[in-house]
Amino acid sequence: MVSDREIDNAVAILRAGGLVAFPTETVYGLGADASNPEAVKRVFAAKGRPHDHPLIVHVADAVQLANWAREIPPAAWTLARKFWPGPLTLILKRSPRVNDLVTGGQDTVALRVPSHPVAQALLRRFGGGVAAPSANRFGRVSATTAEHVRREFGGAVDCVLDGGATDVGIESTIVDLSGAAPALLRPGWITVEQLQDALGMPLASPDTQSPRAPGTLAKHYAPQTPLMVMEADLLLELAASLARQGKRIAVLARSALQPLSPGLTWVASLRQLDEAGCDTILVEAPPQDAAWAAIRDRLTRAAAGTQENLA
Ligand code: TXA
Ligand code: MG
Repeated sequence: MVSDREIDNAVAILRAGGLVAFPTETVYGLGADASNPEAVKRVFAAKGRPHDHPLIVHVADAVQLANWAREIPPAAWTLARKFWPGPLTLILKRSPRVNDLVTGGQDTVALRVPSHPVAQALLRRFGGGVAAPSANRFGRVSATTAEHVRREFGGAVDCVLDGGATDVGIESTIVDLSGAAPALLRPGWITVEQLQDALGMPLASPDTQSPRAPGTLAKHYAPQTPLMVMEADLLLELAASLARQGKRIAVLARSALQPLSPGLTWVASLRQLDEAGCDTILVEAPPQDAAWAAIRDRLTRAAAGTQENLA
């Protein structure tokens, strides 16, 4: 898949301040040496991301938490032991050595230990922290293959490590442990129930007005084609009516997702639907149960982001 030589090359690029896109178990990341401000600036420029939207620092193992965070509460170690390496990001009070560019000037830092073997190989060989947002342009659907990344960034990335399609397909769950009580900032593959089980206490809901996690902006994750989410019966009716008007319609219904778990196909499918060149995307509303919370969250945002395109 990815050879040792490619990893060595990617590490050399990181050390030289370049950008390396790499697979994680969730989505591809667009990485730079987290301790090199010039390199981190290039990430923001390539993504077209505002500077006050902080980046996740990816490290090889939980031991490195102490290099990046201070006042680490016991809950952080509990979650790290249970879910790392894996699709969980922890927000902790930052160590003074963390660059302001990475944290958007906040007093906290986002940390994650990804489990993907290519990400692990890269981080181990590199040794330090890799600041990496999802490898998509700001506000767009995340990239789940190396090909998506190349299409999104072209020559702006110095190296794309191709680890095939990512497993989870939806970004990591984000938990804020920097405040008085643990709070969920972004739903993801690891569910609230799993987190509460591990912590032995309830999670506070995110402050919906908080601009701290831009993934929580209503318009985030928007495809370019107008998208609507609705129950199956309504969807069929609307699809028929739009078809009569000569509109090209892309449909994402649950039956297409059913053979896999919720997160596995959704992001990739949405991107495919967006690229199908249709006038409208109709999505069957996901079930209300907890396992689908992250999917409901992303779909709501995707729909909100395209509302103004709807005639
Ligand atoms: O699965 C993932 O998390 C992927 C892979 C590449 O690791 N990364 C990812 O990064 O989704 P990004 O930058 O697209 O989303 C990270 C989210 C953003 O919403 C950001 O605002 C939030 O994490 N974040 C980062 N640092 C934060 C901090 N100090 N406090 C609160 N939120 C923070
Ligand atoms: Mg993102």
